[in-house]
Amino acid sequence: MTLQTPLTRLLGTRYPIIQGGMSWASSNAALALAVSRAGGLGVIAAGPMYPEALLAAIREVRAGTDAPYAVNIPLYNKRAQEHMDIALAEGVPVIIASQGGPQKHIGRAREAGVKWLQVIASPEHAAKAEAAGVDAVIAVGLEAGGHPGPDEIGLQVLLRSVVRRVSVPVVAAGGIADGAGIAAALCLGAAGAQLGTRFLLTPEAGVCDAYKDAVLAAGVADTTLVGRGRSPVRMLRNAFARDYLAAERGGDEATLETMFSGSSLKQAAFDGDVQGGKVEAGQSAGLIDSLQPAGAVVEQLVAETRDALRRAALMVG
Ligand SMILES: Cc1cc2nc3c(=O)[nH]c(=O)nc-3n(C[C@H](O)[C@H](O)[C@H](O)COP(=O)(O)O)c2cc1C
Repeated sequence: MTLQTPLTRLLGTRYPIIQGGMSWASSNAALALAVSRAGGLGVIAAGPMYPEALLAAIREVRAGTDAPYAVNIPLYNKRAQEHMDIALAEGVPVIIASQGGPQKHIGRAREAGVKWLQVIASPEHAAKAEAAGVDAVIAVGLEAGGHPGPDEIGLQVLLRSVVRRVSVPVVAAGGIADGAGIAAALCLGAAGAQLGTRFLLTPEAGVCDAYKDAVLAAGVADTTLVGRGRSPVRMLRNAFARDYLAAERGGDEATLETMFSGSSLKQAAFDGDVQGGKVEAGQSAGLIDSLQPAGAVVEQLVAETRDALRRAALMVG
């Protein structure tokens, strides 16, 4: 059963489905390996990883499957250069770069024959990335978990504006949790979809159970954007989020900065502090009601996407 698009042809995957790189949750081999084996593109999130841990995870994925996989490298990160060196030396087939322009590193990746997907959140950044020579862009809408970008553009409008602006394949991200969402993105002109929160709710995701339980219990209105004017994060509306949002009304900059940098994703993901830490998750948390193995998630997404596309085709007279 295949689902072919310009993205599957670019990446060599069976399905146009990317597991979003998620710091901590996919900063190991397990999730990426399960997704790539199932026919999607599994992504190791290098962000918080020590170089030796990244090296070990890449080798474990490569040893576990012949299917393509990717490493996500946030470019603002102090270890970005080291992460890039490792990914290129190890012959990683795909790099997904986020949070920073591709100009500094893309030349080396091109020479090494590595595919480069660039995460963007505005049509202007998509055009710049295309001009720099990326193979595809991943358009992240406001609904997304993690850092959805400062312009706060919902996926439907962002996707249409980016598809009109660039000719490289566009991947849709943010708010997609099932095959109907993927089919909708394909109908809007995307070549594929990247899902984060859906893959967070799998046994393979490397965050603690308290984190998964909190996200599983969330409804569609239980996330919020924290840190407008800094690096906004979509996360669950927990004690930290409520305190921060209250402090935003009248709080001074220094207090806000101290509060913002005093709470972290690691605190929630690793230490299990789901009230004081940043429980990053997208609005689609409210569309997910079970923890499922990542391979089964991919299979279900593919079956649902095909159903939705068939139903759509029946509407054409
Ligand atoms: C817990 C969590 C951590 C994330 N960490 C990263 C990251 O390290 N790098 C990155 O490019 N995107 C990161 N993201 C964003 C995802 O890759 C993806 O674009 C997003 O989750 C898609 O939206 P969705 O959650 O609505 O599916 C993260 C998202 C979550 C939920």
